[in-house]
Amino acid sequence: MTATSEFALELKDLRKSFGRSEIIRGANLQVAHGERVAIIGPNGAGKSTLFNLISGRFAPTSGDVVLNGQRINGLPPYEINRRGLSRSFQITNIFPKLSVFENLRCGVLWSLGYKYTFLRFLSGLHDANARAEELMRMIHLDKKRDVLATNLTYAEQRALEIGITIAGGANVILLDEPTAGMSRSETKRFISLIREVTVGKTLLTVEHDMGVVFGLADKIAVVVYGEVIAFDTPEAVRANQRVQEAYLGSVVADNQAGGH
Ligand SMILES: Nc1ncnc2c1ncn2[C@@H]1O[C@H](COP(=O)(O)OP(=O)(O)O)[C@@H](O)[C@H]1O
Ligand SMILES: [Mg+2]
Repeated sequence: MTATSEFALELKDLRKSFGRSEIIRGANLQVAHGERVAIIGPNGAGKSTLFNLISGRFAPTSGDVVLNGQRINGLPPYEINRRGLSRSFQITNIFPKLSVFENLRCGVLWSLGYKYTFLRFLSGLHDANARAEELMRMIHLDKKRDVLATNLTYAEQRALEIGITIAGGANVILLDEPTAGMSRSETKRFISLIREVTVGKTLLTVEHDMGVVFGLADKIAVVVYGEVIAFDTPEAVRANQRVQEAYLGSVVADNQAGGH
């Protein structure tokens, strides 16, 4: 078969152990091109570890990660990035002493790989500048062009991080808890920003806020104890008895108890 894969991303019986404890225990998932998937599950279930396996930070103990029909397990992160997958981190990875524009341009240049002769680098610089300006408008930070990242608000820093994540034009984007630490209204605005900048792309996001999850995702993957126990539409997941018992029930109880 020469046709490109039906799926943007597939996990096949993926496993990962740290020492003697198996953290990912045979995870399976098939994400179609352009689908928006929210990954939910209790703390410590292995959501970030799954992202680390997909993005190449860790190699799986066994099983496969397949990106656009090609196995990528064991490849280094920059190689996976070049194949069109980009992730942001729970810890903001922007340069605080660089301006918004400079941060974005770094993101663009980094995604070009720097494997350039000096002359090609110079001509590439013009394109990189134009791309950085475009990204700045996409994340609504064009009015903060020359502001140092350290002087942005928290929500603006997270937006900048999204800009850097999409700088290279990856078509599969992983965001680990992008709205962590934001207020309700910041979260709402941020989710619509994520929607805007990922139009036509495949998105996997780890998210705790159920309102956000149900608003953003085409599908929800429920991860419990290192396995994907359900993968379906938000409505079907909400109605799923096993999910209720394993996870959603306790979230609803927490929310009703006034927890947040
Ligand atoms: N590098 C590591 N070494 C050892 N244990 C790890 C490592 N990374 C994660 N873990 C363990 O794996 C489990 C799942 O962690 P994580 O993937 O961060 O969960 P989640 O993101 O769902 O909250 C936790 O028990 C955590 O302590
Ligand atoms: Mg996590």
